[in-house]
This record gives sequence, structure tokens and C-alpha cells, in this order.
Amino acid sequence: MRIRKKKWAEPELSVCDFFVKNPGEHAGNWKSAFSEEQPLYLEVGCGKGGFAGQLALQCPDKNIIAVDIKIDMLGVGRRTIVKLFEESGKTQEEIDNLLLVCYNVEQLDKIITPDDKIERLFINFCNPWPRARHKKRRLTYPRKLEMYKSFLADGAEIRFKTDDDGLFEESVAYFEESGYEITYLTRDLHNSNFEGNIMTEHEKMFSDEGIPIKFLIARVKNRVND
Ligand SMILES: C[S@@+](CC[C@H](N)C(=O)[O-])C[C@H]1O[C@@H](n2cnc3c(N)ncnc32)[C@H](O)[C@@H]1O
Repeated sequence: MRIRKKKWAEPELSVCDFFVKNPGEHAGNWKSAFSEEQPLYLEVGCGKGGFAGQLALQCPDKNIIAVDIKIDMLGVGRRTIVKLFEESGKTQEEIDNLLLVCYNVEQLDKIITPDDKIERLFINFCNPWPRARHKKRRLTYPRKLEMYKSFLADGAEIRFKTDDDGLFEESVAYFEESGYEITYLTRDLHNSNFEGNIMTEHEKMFSDEGIPIKFLIARVKNRVND
């Protein structure tokens, strides 16, 4: 997703209590980066932050790390999250179960380690990269699914949504060949029996265009027993 330069993004994030300035400092100890130790959820490619903000409000008993490569996107995300909290009657100071991180997912295992034991990973509407020579950039590409396994807890889930048919079908194969078990799959999420879906900015845009949303849940097999 392209985004114009936002001059205010970095200054606002530099004084934001839920923006992480030095993510490497928390490697292996993300639980302590939050005010309360709770299970960790991770969103990669969080974009404008609507999903992470709603998730944080709906799941106060979980700690959420939301990662994006673009600082300007995270600047927009910060504003979205503050607005969502304020609309639900909470102050900015009460945003204590969500952290924003500016980082390239390609290198994520440098800042999130096996000790972090992420319980759930969300990949929402990642870039489809349809050209053969670019497919390895996909956030569901097997090399990344292998990397995610390094910090996912046993039995943890990846929840993946997209509008893109080609990306979805190839990702199903990526998950299977990378040793994940697909426990739920629908090619039309909004007309499925899945409950509790949280819409992202891209999801709203594509569903307004009448494009069905593809969704799957993949579980990391227990590495000892499976
Ligand atoms: C198409 S947008 C989707 C945003 C949001 N998840 C949604 O559903 O509305 C993809 C997002 O992934 C981010 N992204 C792409 N490649 C990335 C990478 N390698 N590391 C971190 N973020 C990345 C982009 O900056 C962008 O915000």
C-alpha cells in the first residue's frame, strides 16, 4: 500500500508511549514490555492500525504487538488507535496492551525469539506479489512461515485473510508444505459461520467492491508430539 509522507508521523510516534523505539531491546522478553504479563498476539503488516486497535479493545487479557515496515503508516495507525480507544471511553494512557513496532518482517526473528512464544499471528491483506520473481516477498511465503514457527508457541495459530484468489490458493499450499495444519478455511468469510471477525481497512474496501474475503486458520503442530 502506498502512503504519502506524513511529516507529523515520526514526531508523534517519538512521544507515543505505545510506540517501541528500540525493538531489539525486547528480543526474548516481549512479555515484560507490557504493563501486565499476558499471552502475546502479533500482527504483521498492520497498516493503518484499525485491526490492532479493535483487537486490543476486545481482548484486554492479551498483549498485542503490531508491526509495519512504514513509519508513516504507523503514524496513521497511532492516530487510529487513539481514536478507537477514545470512542470507547478510554484515554490514551489506558492503551497498555498494544505496542506499535516499525520493522521489516523479513528480519523479524532478530527481534522476536523462541522465548517470546507468540500465541497468535495475524496476516491481513498482505501484498499479493503476483509476479513469479516477487513471490518470495509474500508474508506467507514458506521461508517466512518457517521463520514464524521459530517464535510461535506450540499449538499457536496463524490467521490469514486476503481478497486475492491467487495468493490465497498458493498460501494454502505454503502452509501445508511448511508443516502447519489448516483448521478452518473459507473463501467467503462474510457469508461463513465464522464469528468474531474484526474488519481491517483493506477488508472494508474490498468487501465494499463485492470481492469475497478468503480466510484461513493454520495451527503450528506440536513439535514434540505431532
Ligand atoms: C496491503 S497493506 C494491508 C494493511 C492492513 N493489514 C489492512 O488489512 O488494511 C500491507 C501492509 O503491509 C506492510 N508491509 C509490507 N511488507 C512488509 C514487510 N516486509 N514488513 C513489515 N510490513 C510490511 C505495508 O507497509 C502495508 O502497511
